[in-house]
Amino acid sequence: MFDDVKIFVAPLAGVTDRPFRRIIREFSPNTPIVTEMISCHSITQARKNCLRNFDQYFDEGNVGAQIFGADVNLMADAAKILQDNGAKWIDINMGCPVPKVATRAGAGAHLMQDHVLAEKIMRAVVRAVDIPVSIKTRLGWDSEHLDWDDLMRRAADSGVRFATLHGRTRAQLYLGAAQLPNVLSAQIPIIANGDIKTADDIKGVQGLGYSGAMIGRAMFGRPWLIAQLLGENPPQNVGDVVLRHLEYALDYYGAKTAIPMFRKHVAWYSAGMVNSSEFRIKVNQITDVDVLKVAIREFWGII
Ligand SMILES: Cc1cc2nc3c(=O)[nH]c(=O)nc-3n(C[C@H](O)[C@H](O)[C@H](O)COP(=O)(O)O)c2cc1C
Repeated sequence: MFDDVKIFVAPLAGVTDRPFRRIIREFSPNTPIVTEMISCHSITQARKNCLRNFDQYFDEGNVGAQIFGADVNLMADAAKILQDNGAKWIDINMGCPVPKVATRAGAGAHLMQDHVLAEKIMRAVVRAVDIPVSIKTRLGWDSEHLDWDDLMRRAADSGVRFATLHGRTRAQLYLGAAQLPNVLSAQIPIIANGDIKTADDIKGVQGLGYSGAMIGRAMFGRPWLIAQLLGENPPQNVGDVVLRHLEYALDYYGAKTAIPMFRKHVAWYSAGMVNSSEFRIKVNQITDVDVLKVAIREFWGII
């Protein structure tokens, strides 16, 4: 349908964890999915408070592991660990705008202000692994500094295989409509990101020279979205999908963490349905797995 355009699932901290990737896989066996961002410090120290430091990707198909950090050597070491854990490619975060990452850690979007450091990291990571390396960035720091093309040039020179461009600046955070520039003369393949939801959006970015499209928030509560955009029917009973996703979350996190974590997914899956706000309020008070399963069954009419 989209010729050679690849559709990716975006990295979404708190969302594209192993359980969500597992449910997406049931609909889209081959779609490339990027993990939540992983700190180079946290993974190289194998910090126990962060489950994803121990994820194994061998059974996950085409999954790229995203790292963030500002320490050149630790970024290379983190990439190696993720390669050994079965990641199919490494994505370097150069766009995260949150102060904890971009200001305090000097990572994420900060690298758009320091292209020299960004290039050192790219070269070190490319040297450290045998799998492909990509970057994910934004248009620039603010509207006065729209210098994404310099970063792309440096990425191409460093051996980075492709890049994702989110059509906003750091200053814009997630506000206003994403605006994607023409990339017909870019030196590496570029994946478009920002507000992509429909087949028309994907066709639109193809015309601007993008090699693919990456979908983030439109996947909330719709793990089947990419399969649907490629012509499949959405699931007949969403409640079955919700219950399976819940099982995967329980497997991975255990009930104590999974139940509060899963509330946002329930809210997204039920958004726009009759009585969804009452259902959300009810689910937000549930602390018992069996009660939660009964509530989900009742809401979606599963006997
Ligand atoms: C809840 C949330 C978490 C995100 N986490 C990450 C992340 O870990 N790494 C990253 O590069 N971008 C992250 N992003 C940005 C998205 O990958 C994407 O660039 C952005 O949401 C725009 O795409 P969309 O309009 O399709 O959602 C996050 C965005 C949201 C809303």
